[in-house]
Amino acid sequence: MCRARIHRKEIMMPRHKDCITLLDYSHDEIAGILSRARKLKAERGAADAKILHGRTGVLIFEKPSLRTRITFETALNELGGHAINLESSMVQIGKRESVEDVARNLQRWVHLIIARTYSHNTIVKLARACSIPVINALTDLYHPCQALAFAQTVWEHLGSDSRPWIVFIGDGNNVCSSLMALAAQMGYNFTLACPAGYEPPAEVISACSEKAEKSKCTISVSHDLVDAVRNATVLYTDVWTSMGQEEESSVRQKAFSGFQVNKALLAHCSQNVLVSHCLPAHRGQEITSEILDSKQSIALDEAENRLHVQKAVIHYLLS
Ligand code: CP
Ligand code: NVA
Repeated sequence: MCRARIHRKEIMMPRHKDCITLLDYSHDEIAGILSRARKLKAERGAADAKILHGRTGVLIFEKPSLRTRITFETALNELGGHAINLESSMVQIGKRESVEDVARNLQRWVHLIIARTYSHNTIVKLARACSIPVINALTDLYHPCQALAFAQTVWEHLGSDSRPWIVFIGDGNNVCSSLMALAAQMGYNFTLACPAGYEPPAEVISACSEKAEKSKCTISVSHDLVDAVRNATVLYTDVWTSMGQEEESSVRQKAFSGFQVNKALLAHCSQNVLVSHCLPAHRGQEITSEILDSKQSIALDEAENRLHVQKAVIHYLLS
């Protein structure tokens, strides 16, 4: 069996209680998690990976999910723990009882909360109100586990010493903000190519830019798609209308119509450019099937790595 080495710094780092945004995690902490993910992937099923020893994680999802829910549940099981799927309609966080009361009760029974919420503030309140770890499984603002899976996939394709230039095409949404945070911490250049008015919140851009200054990379926003992609190592895209924005769908379709990842766009990039998408994709809108299913696409590798990197996050928080 191939035994991947653990990043030495992983062992030395003080731990955070939660995983809410990658802006809280340093370069070395992220590298440690990625290194652990690589090892867990190489040694999938090994008995010594069962670090949860019967501990229980609860999953609360206010929005639909395929990848995140399956990978977290599988991760908890494979790490020797148990997963409880709590129907969000049963809990009604903030309606039937306060966010804080939900957290205070859960911490008396389980060891980990994994939550997908509409408002980012809900997960922040959950985390603040309890002593057990809380993992962000996507909010309106961030999707840190997606960005970590992307980074693991880039390491696999380009090497852990690579410094890719990430160009995100489309909406400055939760996935974009987490990739921007990842890039800022890891020292990767990052450009968002979007129509004017669809940038991430100004506070996210300024927090990432501050981190980027320290890690000596650039974070930029461009409204000129062709110009933005010229130096790209990886193109990334996501749906134009995220969960919860359905009422804006037709306005967004018009606004983003010139921001599709397709063969014509790739003609302006390096021949080796990689392409990714967090999935689910709206084929024919933000990306064509021809590109999503091409050899350059690493989207499914990234989906696969959700399992391994989330195990590594659980390991980091609970071992
Ligand atoms: N990429 C992602 O988070 O997929 P799901 O919404 O299916 O979980
Ligand atoms: N931006 C998308 C990501 C889905 C994984 C959404 O929030 O719907």
